[in-house]
Amino acid sequence: MSRVGIMVGSGALQLGGGFAFAPYSGARQTPFGQASTTPQVARRGEVEVVMLARHGDDHRFAPHEINYRANVHLLAELDVDGVIAINTVGGIAPSASNGKLVLPDQLIDYSWGRAHSFAAESDLRHVDFSDPYDGPLRADLLRAAGRADIVLQDGGVYGCTQGPRFETAAEIVRLERDGCTLVGMTGMPEAGLAREIGLPYASVCLVVNPAAGRAQAIDLAEISEIAATGMTRVARLLDVFLQGLEI
Ligand code: HPA
Repeated sequence: MSRVGIMVGSGALQLGGGFAFAPYSGARQTPFGQASTTPQVARRGEVEVVMLARHGDDHRFAPHEINYRANVHLLAELDVDGVIAINTVGGIAPSASNGKLVLPDQLIDYSWGRAHSFAAESDLRHVDFSDPYDGPLRADLLRAAGRADIVLQDGGVYGCTQGPRFETAAEIVRLERDGCTLVGMTGMPEAGLAREIGLPYASVCLVVNPAAGRAQAIDLAEISEIAATGMTRVARLLDVFLQGLEI
């Protein structure tokens, strides 16, 4: 049996192929507080999916308000074998154009003031985070993209900003100078917490806008449109990934 955690932005992804999601019947309370919402669970053959919307119902938690510790802890309590995070991002590198799917291999954390570690409540102190995303999980996602005939760019540097406002143009210049190719607000501390708790973690990023200063002012209506169409591709990628686990 494989059990896969999927951390989605808002709402649930509609996976095809007979996944009938039902709300998880247990509590969403963890030693670190309540998870953002009740996970949705589905089973197809020997594969189980646990999907959790990090922003909660109706997108009620802004990026800096999310209880990342509770969300990651709940997925670990539910015994998932790994977590695939879905993140919408702004594109900094010219190659990160609207609608592109990118599988980052590195990140830089610019967020602050978020409860970012389980360490205080456990005897854990330091973990290796040289490569923040799990290599084998990334490789499986790339193979699934190949089978699904979906273009998934291999590699990118995710800069995690605090939000909820978008960045200034100068902040994006600084991020670019640092080596960031993508910018988002929810990649951390999620990835670090997954590493602390021993969960393989990878992020599939959908570029929904050019980062600040790279085009005209950021257009929220256009972002929603690109996100909606892009997420159907993400759902197909996940579906093919999950089919691969059934073999
Ligand atoms: N900046 C930060 N987070 C984002 C962006 C952005 O431009 N687009 C989507 N999430």
